[in-house]
Amino acid sequence: MIQKYRFGTPFETDACVFPVEETQGVPAFGTVSTENGFVFSYTMLDTDAVYGLGGANRGINKRGYVYESDCSDNPNHHEDTRSLYAAHNFLLLSGSVTAGLFFDYPSFLRFDVGYTRSDLLTVSCAEANLKLYVITGESLEEIVHEFRTLIGRSYIPPRFAFGFGQSRWGYRTAEDFRSVARRHREAGVPIDMVYMDIDYMDAYKDFTVNPENFPDFAGFVKEMKEEQGVRLIPIIDAGVKIEKGYPVYEEGVAWDYFCRKADGELFQAAVWPGYTHFPDVLNPEARAWFGEHYRSLIEQGIEGFWNDMNEPSIFHSPEGMSDALETMRGMVEAGSVDVPIYLLMEKLGGLANSHADYARFYHKVNGELVRHDKVHNLFGYNMTRAAGEAFDRICPDKRILMFSRSSYIGMHRYGGIWTGDNKAWWSHILLNLRMLPSLNMCGFLYVGADLGGFGCNTTRDLLLRWLALGVFTPLMRNHAALGTREQEFYQFENPEDFAHVISVRYRLLPYLYSTYLRAALEGRMMFRPLSFVYGDDEIARGIEDQLLLGDEVMIAPVYTQNAAGRTVYLPEEMLFVKFLPDGSISTETLSKGLHFVRVALNEVPLFLRPGHCIPVAAPAQRTEEVDFAHLTLLGTPGSSFTVCCDDGIGRDYEKSESWKVLTME
Ligand code: GLC
Repeated sequence: MIQKYRFGTPFETDACVFPVEETQGVPAFGTVSTENGFVFSYTMLDTDAVYGLGGANRGINKRGYVYESDCSDNPNHHEDTRSLYAAHNFLLLSGSVTAGLFFDYPSFLRFDVGYTRSDLLTVSCAEANLKLYVITGESLEEIVHEFRTLIGRSYIPPRFAFGFGQSRWGYRTAEDFRSVARRHREAGVPIDMVYMDIDYMDAYKDFTVNPENFPDFAGFVKEMKEEQGVRLIPIIDAGVKIEKGYPVYEEGVAWDYFCRKADGELFQAAVWPGYTHFPDVLNPEARAWFGEHYRSLIEQGIEGFWNDMNEPSIFHSPEGMSDALETMRGMVEAGSVDVPIYLLMEKLGGLANSHADYARFYHKVNGELVRHDKVHNLFGYNMTRAAGEAFDRICPDKRILMFSRSSYIGMHRYGGIWTGDNKAWWSHILLNLRMLPSLNMCGFLYVGADLGGFGCNTTRDLLLRWLALGVFTPLMRNHAALGTREQEFYQFENPEDFAHVISVRYRLLPYLYSTYLRAALEGRMMFRPLSFVYGDDEIARGIEDQLLLGDEVMIAPVYTQNAAGRTVYLPEEMLFVKFLPDGSISTETLSKGLHFVRVALNEVPLFLRPGHCIPVAAPAQRTEEVDFAHLTLLGTPGSSFTVCCDDGIGRDYEKSESWKVLTME
């Protein structure tokens, strides 16, 4: 059952699509105060668990820390980081009550989940203008299902998006991209996509390509697809460069589609291209205009994009910079070099993504001006919605790959997300794993992290271990920052080990693709915590480094340095499966309980639940070559799996002819 409570005059976020009548009063559990902003409080029992919050930091069970919804371009995903790129305001309480809570509020929101007082959950925000949805049901899964019905069907990417993609900030020329594709092919590493980071553009101007490096871009896109079997996936950033004569800038100014300040001047924010204006994607007309610009790249053969810097990220504004310079001028004029370093760092460090800047500009919504900080968490969502709505107009019969960095619930209908600028740290493999079920609860199914780590220098073993998790995540992309160690697989010794790990992804593609589609079409999670299924098992309830994938598989990747394997807990008897480097598959039945399993760096492990089977394809070098007609089943004889055999690009996945039941002999 879904109950909707309205407080004050909420901003319409369009997060929900399923109509729900309003309930008067307050929820049956917890207390609500609207005296000083909005505060929801609930006293938890020691045994209660709290799930949710999508792309938030830390564990699967959110208890014991404080989280903030305040979409931030923050590359420091430390343990004490309170807000990352997303605002996914959904909590799932398990224990004394079984209920979901969705706080539909587009600005800064604080979730204190037993941090200030270990038994107290408080959710608070500055203004009591929001909708609160309370969802109750028999089980956690039923609640998630209801919530997902409320917020609408998750985005479904084309099948090629389930292939492997190589990315690096710094690829610049056509030859850079050609050589990435060629060297993967030479090393026998399957690949479907090469990502284009900002350097493909002309001076970082959205929807342009550098004319010297790509004199015939359409021809180059075609060449890469036909000769290398690789699709190019360009990045699009939020800020539009201020440059006379640049059509996107000129149009945005002429048609009044950029965000303005209170005095009516256009707001300026420095990002990669220098000073930019932000398209007012909350204004439907401006959104349609911005979305329309994806058309030219699509007409040149592009079939996928990633939307970036859309928190929106601000390096500095002219106002912030002039204030900082004034402060420093004062210091210079004081004539002393004895300036406390922390003062300098605070002033300069505080320039980026400052709340003061977010309060400087406005959106035009239904003719009214809305100050950006009041709706800050909706920007990335609406930039991606601009693209998604445009794709429906531009190519209604074709799925386009789209994922974003920043998001709010509702954006899951238009695209997926990647989890931003992580680091080549072992702990970030675990963070990647833990976010998966939380993201799924909030509707985000097409998700993945920068495998190998974006920041810092990766190592061969870290990359291999991370890939063995990435084999299962819908978005599987190796991406790294400018200046870091090069981490394409062929940069390391024995690239055949990488080729093997990636080939497992392609062998599992029919399984992963079908499981994804079922989760999207049925409003279910692709990845679940063990506690969702084995809730009566005390050990399973506390497990935060293993996940269930679909109904059939449990994953338990190795995520520590120099480990020969790992300890894994089996809540029931399972088949331990390993994809070995010689292409064979080993299986061993393991009893319920704790086991130490050996896993070499070049092996991919998974566990199969009894009574189930999964399809395995022959190895392939690209998604189009995966042979869905000849699949081998692995698991319990007599069990069945239903595989999706649609064309992978259109919208036939809802037709029953696109699904085939396979039964294991
Ligand atoms: C941001 C993105 C990163 C990208 C970089 C340059 O940091 O998160 O993925 O490589 O910008 O465009």
